[in-house]
Amino acid sequence: MQLSKLLSLVLLGVTTAAAQQQQQTPTGNSSATIVELLTAPNNSLGVSKFVGLVQSDDGYKPVVDLLSQPGNYTCLVPNDRVMNKLLKVWKAYAKANGLNATSYPPANLTIENLTLADVVSYHVLNDKVQLANMSNYVNIAHSILNSSNVDHLGTGLPVLIENNATWGQFNNQTWLQSNGQYLEYEVGNGNDDADVVYKDLEASNGFVNVISSVLIPPMRPSLVIEETDDVEDLADLLVQYPDIAAHLDNMNNFTFFAPTDRALKGVNFQNMDNDTIKETVLNHFVQGVYYTTNFTANATSGNGTFNLTTLNNGTLPISVNGSTIIVNNTARVVEPNIFFNNGVMHVINKKLNATNPSGSSSSNSTNTSSSVVSTNTNA
Ligand SMILES: *[C@@H]1O[C@H](CO)[C@@H](O)[C@H](O)[C@H]1NC(C)=O
Ligand SMILES: *[C@@H]1O[C@H](CO)[C@@H](O)[C@H](O)[C@H]1NC(C)=O
Ligand SMILES: *[C@@H]1O[C@H](CO)[C@@H](O)[C@H](O)[C@H]1NC(C)=O
Ligand SMILES: *[C@@H]1O[C@H](CO)[C@@H](O)[C@H](O)[C@H]1NC(C)=O
Ligand SMILES: *[C@@H]1O[C@H](CO)[C@@H](O)[C@H](O)[C@H]1NC(C)=O
Ligand SMILES: *[C@@H]1O[C@H](CO)[C@@H](O)[C@H](O)[C@H]1NC(C)=O
Ligand SMILES: *[C@@H]1O[C@H](CO)[C@@H](O)[C@H](O)[C@H]1NC(C)=O
Ligand SMILES: *[C@@H]1O[C@H](CO)[C@@H](O)[C@H](O)[C@H]1NC(C)=O
Ligand SMILES: *[C@@H]1O[C@H](CO)[C@@H](O)[C@H](O)[C@H]1NC(C)=O
Ligand SMILES: *[C@@H]1O[C@H](CO)[C@@H](O)[C@H](O)[C@H]1NC(C)=O
Ligand SMILES: *[C@@H]1O[C@H](CO)[C@@H](O)[C@H](O)[C@H]1NC(C)=O
Ligand SMILES: *[C@@H]1O[C@H](CO)[C@@H](O)[C@H](O)[C@H]1NC(C)=O
Repeated sequence: MQLSKLLSLVLLGVTTAAAQQQQQTPTGNSSATIVELLTAPNNSLGVSKFVGLVQSDDGYKPVVDLLSQPGNYTCLVPNDRVMNKLLKVWKAYAKANGLNATSYPPANLTIENLTLADVVSYHVLNDKVQLANMSNYVNIAHSILNSSNVDHLGTGLPVLIENNATWGQFNNQTWLQSNGQYLEYEVGNGNDDADVVYKDLEASNGFVNVISSVLIPPMRPSLVIEETDDVEDLADLLVQYPDIAAHLDNMNNFTFFAPTDRALKGVNFQNMDNDTIKETVLNHFVQGVYYTTNFTANATSGNGTFNLTTLNNGTLPISVNGSTIIVNNTARVVEPNIFFNNGVMHVINKKLNATNPSGSSSSNSTNTSSSVVSTNTNA
């Protein structure tokens, strides 16, 4: 449907607005619920359009009800500046297509499998997260968006929360004590980020943060890879081999190390038989969703390094030193934690040639199976 295509373009295209003017900084109210805080008359949050959106259609009611009750949530609320931009495009589209241009876009508007109500749910974290209190350099929170047709992981689609300190600064108590209060925060899906404009506004059932952009929930890998910088060769490969793309989209619970274009320079997939392509691809996958937080945790308990196993049964050593992550002793993670609806991707600067202990290689080059990558990832 045209509409979903347009909205996905709009959503993907709505980027961070220019720096906000410093007005009166809003405050929380620990005896009001998140909904009461957001709908308080004459509040200075600057989020009336988002509030208007979720009040415009019963399809948003489950989220509104949730945030009206006792609980532990953190709300990331797009500000009026970005919502005005979005609504402008929606109105033009609605007008051109004979839809009601005076109303907000409906909750059942669908982008991929995501309804607009789902997109709204992605803005609610399923926990109380106080940004100023986070003790980890990288934080991955989980949203309440966990319906099985859009979250194949079943964990609630993840949201990345980062600040603008370096790893060294953040882990230096002396530095943090005097500079921590000036940190700026970003939230997002690993590819697109929103700036946190007002943070940690307390409510009885959690926190409210006002953000500068609309967050896009993690989607299927082939779409996300297309939107990611520096992996165009990979995106081209997926276009050329729809079997691999479909397989990737239908896999679940995996970590993908994606080589940059530079890393794939000189690699000519055209000259490879399908088995070699399959092997090359599988060398870059491991089972299980390992965010960088997992690498850090696993490496810490293993003296800075630990081994993963690729889907091709190769050993893949991971070593962690501060924020530097080295894969297979050669490749550095250059763009970590890019989320899919079924796994996670880390962009690396070298192709991987993990050792395959069984030594088994292209077992059957005459195999004309329609699926280039046919390994069962649930093994
Ligand atoms: C919120 O979290 C706190 C601390 O974990 C817990 O004690 C409390 O029961 C939670 N509240 C609700 C309503 O779930
Ligand atoms: C269009 O939406 C507005 C605002 O929700 C509503 O008042 C109006 O009745 C709607 N018009 C039609 C034709 O549905
Ligand atoms: C969306 O909801 C409206 C009512 O709010 C309904 O008229 C319309 O058929 C629904 N569209 C889809 C695609 O379900
Ligand atoms: C959309 O949902 C259907 C039904 O749950 C599922 O089979 C399909 O894989 C989903 N598509 C994407 C892109 O997630
Ligand atoms: C983070 O950004 C703020 C606002 O631009 C700035 O004042 C602060 O110095 C930055 N912190 C670091 C560690 O770069
Ligand atoms: C920690 O931060 C302090 C204050 O900025 C600085 O003087 C010190 O050199 C830092 N320590 C290290 C190990 O970087
Ligand atoms: C990654 O860490 C999270 C949080 O500690 C944990 O729940 C998850 O099981 C870990 N993933 C793997 C693959 O170990
Ligand atoms: C995902 O993979 C990890 C690592 O193999 C495993 O521990 C975990 O149980 C799997 N989760 C699901 C939902 O299959
Ligand atoms: C990583 O750590 C988790 C939690 O301690 C553990 O369950 C898992 O087996 C570890 N994975 C590897 C590959 O060492
Ligand atoms: C851990 O690393 C230290 C320093 O490199 C080394 O001396 C020690 O033997 C290592 N321990 C294990 C169990 O590998
Ligand atoms: C990783 O695997 C290699 C090769 O199999 C082995 O030599 C090494 O000890 C393993 N490292 C860890 C931390 O288990
Ligand atoms: C290789 O894969 C392509 C794309 O899936 C397919 O069209 C072709 O038939 C395969 N060739 C062989 C020899 O399997």
